[in-house]
Amino acid sequence: MKLQASPDTICVHTGTQFDHHVKGVNTPIHTSSAFGYMHTNGNKYPRYYNTPNQVAVVNKLCALEHAEDGILFSSGMAAISTLILAFLKHGDHLVIPKEIYGGTYHFINSELNRLGIEFTFIDDTTVASFEKAIRENTRMLFLETPSNPLMKLTDVAAVAQLAKDHHLMTAIDNTFASPINQNPMLLGIDLVMHSGTKYLGGHSDLCFGALVGSKANIAQVHARAINLGGSLNAATCALIERSMKTLSLRVERQTQNAQAVAEFLSRQSGIKKVNYPGLSSHEQHALAQKQMKGFGAMLSFELDGDAAATDHFLDKLQMIVPALSLGGVETLICASAKTSHLKMTPEQRTSAGISDSLLRLSVGIEAAADITGDIYQALQ
Ligand SMILES: Cc1ncc(COP(=O)(O)O)c(C=O)c1O
Repeated sequence: MKLQASPDTICVHTGTQFDHHVKGVNTPIHTSSAFGYMHTNGNKYPRYYNTPNQVAVVNKLCALEHAEDGILFSSGMAAISTLILAFLKHGDHLVIPKEIYGGTYHFINSELNRLGIEFTFIDDTTVASFEKAIRENTRMLFLETPSNPLMKLTDVAAVAQLAKDHHLMTAIDNTFASPINQNPMLLGIDLVMHSGTKYLGGHSDLCFGALVGSKANIAQVHARAINLGGSLNAATCALIERSMKTLSLRVERQTQNAQAVAEFLSRQSGIKKVNYPGLSSHEQHALAQKQMKGFGAMLSFELDGDAAATDHFLDKLQMIVPALSLGGVETLICASAKTSHLKMTPEQRTSAGISDSLLRLSVGIEAAADITGDIYQALQ
């Protein structure tokens, strides 16, 4: 589609490979893993990341993220690991905040040392901390904003500028915001990563990851991805394409609901703290207004109680499901210490500010009053 379309329209139309054979309006599912090579432009193969259903999704995501090219993976972690291995080699150095998704933290902590790739986990996400950690051998700055689970923001444009001044790559995990609420490439970031398992899939029934960026950067990822082999099958790609047609509708509703839930939580006495960038009480609300199109549908809050009281609260919920993962149409809740950050030691969690009573809420598309009603009755 050539129109300068809005995200709503891109979600519905961009990337669709109209079925001219039977005039179907959806991209057909091309089940082949073998494709004829005579009289064609290049060989197609699922692990070359270039089959029609893969390309249809990539084109939609690239249009949403203002990227030239992209690549889909079988999980978000496959995207992150391939990204890091594509750009960093023995002797290189990575700067990354310590408050990031637990799986990313674990990957870096447990895999990079033996490959001779150096890294610094910075304590906060300020530009000054990024700058202080830069060394002669630094090659990449990695960001995740809003962060998981404390919803701290990084000034994306300022970190992108810092990287340019030092001739470094920047990569961002844009999972929490989704392309509907934040477009980091427009703020100067080189590579955008998504755990598509979350908002892009949106129904808690798919696992995939994605990277988008310039043609040259994606070509470098592609060269490594072919060796690492974390590709995605056509049937899953077709489901993703269908899911993404409603991405903007879902995320807009989820974002509105999250604002209502965050405001409700801020008024409850059994709650110590609410972390949501859409609240004027959030320390970085002004930055959120500057760099996000919407404040997202993820928030976290701290109950005034210990781990046992927290479990008790979760047991009392009637509609909201205590479950891993996020970004689906249903509201999910989890204690970060027992889920996404389980692999950290208690000391690492404490130093990252993740207490046993910190709950992360992924707000769904239900009626906001039903979400707040469920929380209210469980709090009682
Ligand atoms: C922010 C973030 N990044 C990356 C990942 C990893 O993605 P996946 O589980 O699809 O491998 C997750 C998973 O929860 C996540 O929340």
